Amino acid sequence: MADKPTIYVLNGPNLNLLGMREPEIYGHDTLDDIAGQVEDAAQDAGVSVDFRQSNHEGHLVDWLHEANALEAKAVLLNAGAFTHTSVALYDAIKSISIPVIEVHLSNPHAREEFRRHSYVGMAAKGSIAGFGGNSYLLALKAALDLAGL
Ligand code: DQA
Repeated sequence: MADKPTIYVLNGPNLNLLGMREPEIYGHDTLDDIAGQVEDAAQDAGVSVDFRQSNHEGHLVDWLHEANALEAKAVLLNAGAFTHTSVALYDAIKSISIPVIEVHLSNPHAREEFRRHSYVGMAAKGSIAGFGGNSYLLALKAALDLAGL
């Protein structure tokens, strides 16, 4: 049987601390809790999820390239603070042909001024932000729709 279609879910710096980190902004779910919710929804849809986190910008760049090379159906990318600083992530997203969906737990537009600019959003297919862990599930739905799955 052919491999299931795969969706990468990539998480950037400090997201390993979810649950403990500013819970009034990011909620009480850990990243493992969110991974479990996304994996359950993906299983129902018949797709595999490759869910990863790194505090290092270059890992996210490498994983975007890998997702493209392995013909993943889409990438859901919560780049954390690199969202607002990383020309390398902008270039990586522009360099690949699979869709990237920007994800945030919080709504960066309703926070500090420096969060209003997003290099990721400038290159991504679209953005989902402000719904806590549910942002990931909404982004998964968008990715499945885009891929016709
Ligand atoms: C975040 C928003 C970013 O501004 C912040 O730097 C994060 C988390 C979010 O999911 O709401 O680390 O990406």
